[in-house]
Amino acid sequence: MAKEEPRALDRAPILVVDDDGDIRMALEMLLSYEGYEVWTAKDGAEALARLDAEDAQGRRPACVLSDMKMPGMDGLEFLEALGERAEAPPVVMISGHGDVKTAVEAVRRGAVNFLEKPLDDNHVLVTLRAAIRERRLALQNTALKKQLGSRWELIGESEVMQRLKKQVEQVAGAEASVLITGENGTGKEVVARNLHLLGPRASEPFVTVNCAAIPEELIESELFGHEKGSFTGANERRTGHFEAADGGTLFLDEIGDMPLEAQAKVLRALENHEVTRVGASETVPVNIRVLAATNADLAEAVEAKTFRMDLFYRLNVVPLVIPPLRERREDIPLLARHFLEASAGRQGRAPLGLSAEAEERLMSADWAGNVRQLRNLLEGASVFAEGAELSLEDVDQVQGAHPELSGRRAPSSGAEDPFAADTFEEFKEESETLFFRRKLEENGGNVKRTAENLGMQRSHLYKKLDRYRIRD
Ligand SMILES: Nc1ncnc2c1ncn2[C@@H]1O[C@H](COP(=O)(O)OP(=O)(O)OP(=O)(O)O)[C@@H](O)[C@H]1O
Ligand SMILES: [Mg+2]
Repeated sequence: MAKEEPRALDRAPILVVDDDGDIRMALEMLLSYEGYEVWTAKDGAEALARLDAEDAQGRRPACVLSDMKMPGMDGLEFLEALGERAEAPPVVMISGHGDVKTAVEAVRRGAVNFLEKPLDDNHVLVTLRAAIRERRLALQNTALKKQLGSRWELIGESEVMQRLKKQVEQVAGAEASVLITGENGTGKEVVARNLHLLGPRASEPFVTVNCAAIPEELIESELFGHEKGSFTGANERRTGHFEAADGGTLFLDEIGDMPLEAQAKVLRALENHEVTRVGASETVPVNIRVLAATNADLAEAVEAKTFRMDLFYRLNVVPLVIPPLRERREDIPLLARHFLEASAGRQGRAPLGLSAEAEERLMSADWAGNVRQLRNLLEGASVFAEGAELSLEDVDQVQGAHPELSGRRAPSSGAEDPFAADTFEEFKEESETLFFRRKLEENGGNVKRTAENLGMQRSHLYKKLDRYRIRD
């Protein structure tokens, strides 16, 4: 079956099915005058044959206008036969005098609308346009859902991943807080998105707060908002992330890095289901589901008194643990193919295959940066690969086994040599990108550790990584 594109509907033909030659001709004239291409058929059987023949050419109608009473296969039978096909076009029924009851029955069985004879030109056009518009919206909706689905698809068939996926499905429908734990790049955000998208709040906002990326003195205002003039620099009144997530899900990422003082306020907000903006006297009710993620051992942080025990219990109602990639190596080929396909899609070409040697190399690597590191490597490698398959050499090149290539960058980042820059600004950006990318790699993708080793503020490093799109 040909795939329908939402936009192509405007140019798609209309199929008119009626045993009355005069009506066929009248409709054909009216519709072609309006710029539609028109196909005609004198009964259901002929209409189905025509649809088959056109479908083989990749052509489908935007809408079908069908008479109710026809010799042989009548309107209802035609509707039923059509309904058995994948992605059937919308059908508007045409009923004769005294036939309205059957027309209503047809609508009950899936026709989108009906028209009464004698046909009024204007009414025909209005009904047709509405049917096509509705169809377009439905198709757009499906396309959107599909996109969302693949963006956050949780890949992995290893036993642990199967168990995790089942847990995610079970927990998604509940309101309980979930604490997602796993090393850097294991897929904590992917899991959080899945919990949101599979749950009853899917169409409501999903708000991510990276607790590590906010400077300590600003965290309260970021989370809860502030009133105008409540502190130096607060020139405007501002809504916080808690309020922005109202009705939906609040994802507290890197929760282990939240300062103690802010922890107390978050706990209060969660327990009372309300927030107080900085500088405000009254409270604002919020209805949110909370998900939190960390790559630290929060229980240990509780012992060390850097994390509040009461908040830990409040967040850890359902613990989900994502094992590191090296503990589920069977998932590597599946993930690798997924990322090769995604890269190919972005570059608008066929996906690269994976040679047996390359696959073996990927399966035996350590993956300190977990799935993110695997993804970055494959994205980089698919740019260099010259054959139809990713070879061992392609993988090694990007992995830095060849020092002359180790400074090369992934596709999204543009030029390769900072000295080739035309302006100082460009040079600075190129070099910073190379520098931070390398340092992050050296620290297994761990931002906190990278910041410590560089003697930089974590929030500052996050800004750089975001700016140069180094992480995601
Ligand atoms: N199971 C998976 N299936 C598909 N893609 C995945 C999976 N796990 C991770 N990824 C991809 O790997 C990258 C890192 O995932 P994600 O951001 O969810 O990790 P994280 O655990 O939140 O990392 P960090 O601790 O660094 O924030 C993303 O591009 C994500 O799409
Ligand atoms: Mg994350």
